[in-house]
Amino acid sequence: MTIIVTGGAGFIGSNFIFHMLDAHPDYRIVCLDKLTYAGNLSTLASVMDKPNFRFVKLDICDREGVYKLFEEEHPDIIVNFAAESHVDRSIENPEVFLQTNILGTQVLMDACRKYGITRYHQVSTDEVYGDLPLDRPDLFFTEETPIHTSSPYSASKASADLLVLAYHRTYGLPVTISRCSNNYGPYHFPEKLIPLTIANCLNDKPLPVYGKGENVRDWLYVEDHCRAIDLIIYKGRVGEIYNVGGHNEMRNIDIVKLICQKLGKPESLITYVTDRKGHDMRYAIDPTKIHNELGWLPETKFADGIEKTIDWYLANRDWWETIISGEYQNYYEKMYGNR
Ligand code: NAD
Ligand code: TYD
Repeated sequence: MTIIVTGGAGFIGSNFIFHMLDAHPDYRIVCLDKLTYAGNLSTLASVMDKPNFRFVKLDICDREGVYKLFEEEHPDIIVNFAAESHVDRSIENPEVFLQTNILGTQVLMDACRKYGITRYHQVSTDEVYGDLPLDRPDLFFTEETPIHTSSPYSASKASADLLVLAYHRTYGLPVTISRCSNNYGPYHFPEKLIPLTIANCLNDKPLPVYGKGENVRDWLYVEDHCRAIDLIIYKGRVGEIYNVGGHNEMRNIDIVKLICQKLGKPESLITYVTDRKGHDMRYAIDPTKIHNELGWLPETKFADGIEKTIDWYLANRDWWETIISGEYQNYYEKMYGNR
């Protein structure tokens, strides 16, 4: 069994590679990654020398390169994590989001059609459903919830999902889609809320909270997401969408305060900044389908997951300090300098 994991040098893709090499030591895993600002080869250092692992630096939009890789590897399964993933960056510069997230997905699926595979899995997001109001805690996203996107990021992910379903219906491509809520855990790029807050706390820097900090996200420990995808690619029904979520809704401000408390830092570091444009209020997944059909449930309680995550950032300062000392500085200055 050979699996191509695209975007495997990023946050969730790398955790998925670790999970798969552990859970299925007899599989060959090929990581295809362009190594954008969000991809980090040092993340994969521990698996680089494994005989059943290969890293290939490649853009999913590079049709010739992708076809060549399929000819070399004859993959059985493709799991597509490769994407531009940060909402704030999509507001600044949408174009690359459309290129990678939509057109890159098309190239991968064309390769799947040309060379034949048993499964193409698209890693999508709950953000395709738009948001829910804060005063309706009874509402959740199901797989039937209409697509209703807010940001260029979520619009690009939703477009890709529609294309994936179209390739299934039109060409019979054996696809599945997972739509997951916000992940957290090791190797999370420090531009996202949880790792940014941990890194800034450790450096005694202001903790930027958008608007009033009342927005709610449904946080899932990354390993639980990886297990869900592992299940879907084997047991999920072709042509189906599976929502993946932790039933763990939290307000941003409560997350930031919790991290302050865990790291013994004062809440006076919290700085309320101008809200994100079009900021989604609440995401909340109903994971009944994946539970009933595939028996999946989240295993990591938030209290344990956040401890593990903080411990990881404490033990791996080199990993994130290298990132925030480089090009990321310019991004940070631009996004937060006058906010
Ligand atoms: P990330 O930004 O940490 O990693 C993305 C990876 O994709 C990087 O390694 C990057 O180098 C690579 N990449 C980007 N453009 C590429 C291209 N053109 N060709 C090849 N590689 C390219 O993202 P993440 O948080 O790990 O998210 C992975 C996937 O999961 C994305 O598709 C995202 O939409 C989805 N998702 C993320 C979350 C979350 O909370 N982070 C939640 C639900 C779904
Ligand atoms: P983020 O981690 O960017 O994920 P997403 O936008 O995909 O949900 O943001 C999570 C929440 O935290 C979101 O409501 C925006 C908010 N946020 C802040 O308040 N401050 C920050 O510096 C960042 C990056 C995010």
